[in-house]
Amino acid sequence: MTDTIHWREAVKSRDTVALRRFTCTTRREGKNAPPPHEDEVQRYFRQHAIAAANRSRDQGRGGRLVIAEDAQGIAAAFTHQRVDPARFPPKLARALDITGAGEVVRELCFLAVATRYRGRGGLLANEAVTEALYDIIDCESQAQRIHVLGQVDYHNKASMQMLERFNFSRLTQGVPPPKGDQRFGWWLHIIDPPQ
Ligand SMILES: CC(C)(COP(=O)(O)OP(=O)(O)OC[C@H]1O[C@@H](n2cnc3c(N)ncnc32)[C@H](O)[C@@H]1OP(=O)(O)O)[C@@H](O)C(=O)NCCC(=O)NCCS
Repeated sequence: MTDTIHWREAVKSRDTVALRRFTCTTRREGKNAPPPHEDEVQRYFRQHAIAAANRSRDQGRGGRLVIAEDAQGIAAAFTHQRVDPARFPPKLARALDITGAGEVVRELCFLAVATRYRGRGGLLANEAVTEALYDIIDCESQAQRIHVLGQVDYHNKASMQMLERFNFSRLTQGVPPPKGDQRFGWWLHIIDPPQ
């Protein structure tokens, strides 16, 4: 665990300004912009995450936006929400293999650490995934089985390695354009909470 880090749910009135400054990516040497797949995540947290989590809650999908703070501000953030498997493409629904009542699906939608924690062997990323999985369990206290899904851009090696460390398995592979919008591969982690 990292010390001096405090995790809590983000609140619109308190965190909107700090989220606008949250920086999880920078341009790499020789490029004049951050990698687009990381920039997308940064823009999401800066501009959309609070409203999206509030909307998800209002619509009964239980959206959560959780942030970690250190002395310099927001150090990490993640979002997750309940998803309805009936809306999945057939290939994904088959791969999920939901067999009974008491099973739910949550998507771990976005997760990022501030650049000051990147390149440190997953120091805060591992803590963030652990927090996210416990938060998901707390949100689904009645579930007998929780299918945790993640979507990862085919470029995003750091994210795939992070999910592999937590025994997520790859259900489908993201592929480069122009194959429709299949940039994202689906990843799955199953939790059977103690009853
Ligand atoms: C996904 C994430 C949480 C994993 O964190 P992690 O396990 O600590 O792994 P790192 O970020 O250190 O991954 C190493 C990569 O980051 C790069 N990196 C290291 N320090 C960096 C820094 N300060 N700024 C930007 N990139 C950095 C390394 O060059 C390496 O890139 P490569 O995979 O192209 O070789 C983190 O990479 C991140 O926040 N990414 C941006 C947001 C994102 O893409 N989230 C996932 C999808 S929602």
